[in-house]
Order: sequence, then structure tokens, then C-alpha cells
Amino acid sequence: MPRAGLGIEFPLHRHVSLVALDLLPGITKADVHRWMVLLTDDIQRLTRGEAPAGDPQPELANGAGQPAIAVGFGPELFAKLKLEHRAPTGFSQVPALSIDRLEEPFVGGDVLLQVQSNLPLQLAHMVRLLLRDSAQFAELKWQQDGFSQESIVDRGVPVHRNLMGQVDGTDNPAFNSDDFENLVWIKDGPDWCIGGTQLVVRRIRMKLDTWDALSTPQKESTIGRKLSNGAPLGGTRLDDPVDLEAKLPSGLLTIPEYAHVRRAAGDSFQQRFYRRPYNYTATPSHGQPQGEAGLLFLAYARDLNNQYLPVQRKLAEFDLLNVWTVPVGSATFVIAPMPGPGEILADRLFA
Ligand code: HEM
Repeated sequence: MPRAGLGIEFPLHRHVSLVALDLLPGITKADVHRWMVLLTDDIQRLTRGEAPAGDPQPELANGAGQPAIAVGFGPELFAKLKLEHRAPTGFSQVPALSIDRLEEPFVGGDVLLQVQSNLPLQLAHMVRLLLRDSAQFAELKWQQDGFSQESIVDRGVPVHRNLMGQVDGTDNPAFNSDDFENLVWIKDGPDWCIGGTQLVVRRIRMKLDTWDALSTPQKESTIGRKLSNGAPLGGTRLDDPVDLEAKLPSGLLTIPEYAHVRRAAGDSFQQRFYRRPYNYTATPSHGQPQGEAGLLFLAYARDLNNQYLPVQRKLAEFDLLNVWTVPVGSATFVIAPMPGPGEILADRLFA
């Protein structure tokens, strides 16, 4: 099955549900293999727009939403099933960072279902079916839903904005490029994950009430790009290169030292990855009378430890954006490659 079915090297969907499950007590490797047999059939049918076996609402099967489903495994799963030797080298949770204010339940998880669609009804139905077929093996740890919305800026280029109003997801490796191939898809290491990738999920809450109080130039210099069309400061178009050397007539840097894009620019090609930024909101609860808004930051790399982590550490040290953002959830997963016809998901890991 083509990689498109994973929903990674693919335009941002309108809706995502990230569902993290923990194994039920006593579940063995053989049980997880049986679970993956069930999920493989569900996923292959659902991503073709067909109803899986025993679907109580087959009318909801629909290919029009470009449904995509990926399955990932967290560090704790490898530990619980004594499969640590089958995890990619260095694969672990993101180490504690000074900026983190992590809140249960949004931390870790044994197995991730990443379900995406452009149609919210279809998405909800897919999640329900996958949870139904997972119930005898695992219980829900957390579910985080996100959304995106395309808008058009320069020369008809479709972009996505986050809840701070910024054009987000611009400086990413292009789909079907050598960069994407080399940065994202796993090429070596344990055989079962070759053709898969690694994913870090960070739930990052935004302090929008204080962000709203900034002027447009203050907001733009915090990121290093313009709010209107996402062009880098010093440029005019979205796809103008980010010039970190450029100076203003005053001699000050055009993109300040503290700007997010300067701090986030990796020191080498190796320190790059693919970001899929989804927005989230949460209904008001006790202590948060205005509800919660933020970014479901999803980054994919063949080796998070060497590609994402150095950048994340640098941003945790110093990034003006940290004043208005708080990481409250964090989890990592190895995403299994999409099984081909007749194959079982992560077969070589659990068989
Ligand atoms: C709520 C938190 C965040 C917000 C609102 C945010 C927003 C943005 C925006 C607006 C841009 C410029 C447009 C683009 O290239 O996408 C950007 C760039 C970038 N961000 Fe973030 N970001 C956040 C968190 C993070 C985190 C946690 C990381 C990595 C650890 C990160 C890594 C990057 C990278 C690598 C770039 C491209 C930098 C370059 O131009 O080379 N961001 N971000």
C-alpha cells in the first residue's frame, strides 16, 4: 500500500485524532500480534474508503475524506514486551525540559493510532471502529484532536495558520524530495521499522490573552516572519529565503537573536525534520474558564534523537515564543511502515 495511506508525506488533513492506548495488564507479544492482524484489516479497508468487517455503520465508509491511518509504538511498549533490542537506537521519550509543564494524561502511551481525514464524521467513525477492535488488548490513555484550515496567500499558495494567526509549516522538506526521503523515512536499524518513521507529539498550550496584547511588529519579530503572508522578515514573499545574516539600517539583525525561526534553524542538514502543525482547542474546565487553545506539534524524523532533540533543546534554552507557549503533553512513537497486500502491520516485531 502506498505511503499516502499513512498520512505523513501528504497535505495536512482538516482533522486529526491522535489516540494513545496502554496495554491491558497481562497482554503478551502474541496478543499484540493478534491485535495488529485486526487493525491491519481495518486500516486497509478504511483507507480505501471501504467498511471493515462487522462495521455497524457501513454507510459511513467514504474515500472522499482521503482517510489516512498510522500506528506507532512508544518506548514503554518495547519495555513492557521486553523488546528493547528491537527499538531503534536511542529511541526514548523527550527528556525533561525546563519549559515543560507536563500534565497527565497527555504523556507517553504504548500504542498510537494517528487517524486523519478531511471529513469529521468519517474521522469519528474510524476512531470508534479502531477503538472497538482494540478494546480487548488496550485501554485509552489519551485522545487529542486537532484541526487545520487552508487559506491562500502569495501566488495562490495554500498555507495553514495556527491559533496565534501565524502561517505555520512553511519551512519543511518538500514532499517526494530527496530531503524528505533522507530526513523522514527510516532506512536502517531494526528490519520491522524500515520504511516507517519516528514521531514526537507535543501538546503546546498557547497563552493567547497575553499574546493578543502584542503589536503586529512585536508578534512578527517573535517568530521572524510576517503575519500577513508568512514571508520572512526582510523578504516579501512566503517562499523568500530566511536570511539570518540580514541587518536593518540601524545595524540590528532583521531577524532578531530571540526569534523562533532563528533558534529553530538546525545547525546542519542532519538537524531537520518534517512538522505537521495541527491546532487544538479544549472546552473550558475548572481553572481554565476560557478553555484551552494550542498547537498539536507533530514532528517526524527517521531519528528524533539526532534530528529533533538538538533543536528542541536549543528552543527550550532560549526562544522568545516560550513566553506565550507551554508544553503540557509529550510522547514519542515509532510509526510502523504501511503493510503491503497480504502483510500484517509490524509483523516482524510481534510475530
Ligand atoms: C506553539 C508552539 C509553536 C509555534 C506557534 C510555532 C510556530 C512556528 C512558525 C509560525 C514558524 C514559521 C513558519 C514555518 O516555517 O513553519 C515556525 C518555524 C519553525 N518551527 Fe515552530 N512553532 C512552535 C513550536 C516549535 C517546536 C516545539 C519546534 C521544534 C522543537 C519548532 C520548530 C520549528 C522549525 C524547525 C521551524 C523552521 C525554522 C526555519 O525556518 O528553519 N517549532 N514555527
